[in-house]
Amino acid sequence: MIIRLVCLGALALAAGSASASPPAQPHAPGIESPGYVWNAPNEEQMIALAHRGDSENGEEAYAVCRGCHQADGSGRGDAIYPQLAGQHASVLIKQMIDVRAGRRDNPKMHPFVAEWVVSSEEVADIAAYLSQLPIPATNLKGDGTDLARGEALYEKDCATCHGAQGEGDAAEFYPRVAHQHYSYLDHESKLIRDGGRRNANPEMVKAIKGYSDADIAAVSDYMSRLPIESRPE
Ligand code: HEC
Ligand code: HEC
Repeated sequence: MIIRLVCLGALALAAGSASASPPAQPHAPGIESPGYVWNAPNEEQMIALAHRGDSENGEEAYAVCRGCHQADGSGRGDAIYPQLAGQHASVLIKQMIDVRAGRRDNPKMHPFVAEWVVSSEEVADIAAYLSQLPIPATNLKGDGTDLARGEALYEKDCATCHGAQGEGDAAEFYPRVAHQHYSYLDHESKLIRDGGRRNANPEMVKAIKGYSDADIAAVSDYMSRLPIESRPE
């Protein structure tokens, strides 16, 4: 009887995995692996960074992404789809390529960046297009109840990399966090603290390791309210 139940269980598992139709995303070693080097040089990233992005091609290639990230790159706070408009091109390139290579897990998005974006140059074209779009005027913010704590934490632990105004640093691949959706900032901060974003920067993990969920909520609310004008030229 026990054996029959086990067999039925195995069958159910097999059937379950067979019906999951999108192609599996690859799995590359990340922060969980000993010897992990953040942003290690890789061929696809070098090709994309060397390519002078063509915004017109990028706009066309971006068509398949609009369903989630919206035509104006504003994302969706309620669905935790990040705003991409006005993000640094270098950051967009690194993140797309990390998803393609399986260093950042995103099974929902993987089919789009893997199957529809054909070349490494096209990755750079999309990044060129998105980075010059205006940062959308509206975004999802937190409840505003703990902003003083959020500001103090941000200035102590985050501003060195993400910038005093949340503007990030293109040369260092540090994302702009100013005016991003609160829900996404909160989700990513927890993911990075807990080891779930496998392409994360170990220095950032150290900075956020001791944060409670309430600390993360406060600092995310603060970042979601940093001004749009923080965009560097
Ligand atoms: C099915 C919905 C979906 C589609 C379609 C989609 N994405 Fe995404 N994308 C997401 C989600 C969800 C995340 C955030 C994942 C997470 O929480 O780590 C994301 C994250 C990203 C990021 C990382 C942003 C950052 O700040 O780190 C980039 C860049 C990106 N998407 C680009 C694209 C591009 C380009 C396309 C089209 C080729 C695309 N996405 C299509 C859902 C989607
Ligand atoms: C040592 C530099 C450094 C410090 C300090 C740092 N970060 Fe980061 N942060 C990064 C880098 C680099 C990334 C992108 C990681 C990657 O390659 O995927 C990132 C990503 C993020 C993201 C996701 C942004 C996106 O667009 O996907 C959030 C949110 C974030 N950091 C919040 C924080 C908070 C909050 C603090 C302070 C507690 C902090 N960071 C401190 C370097 C840093």
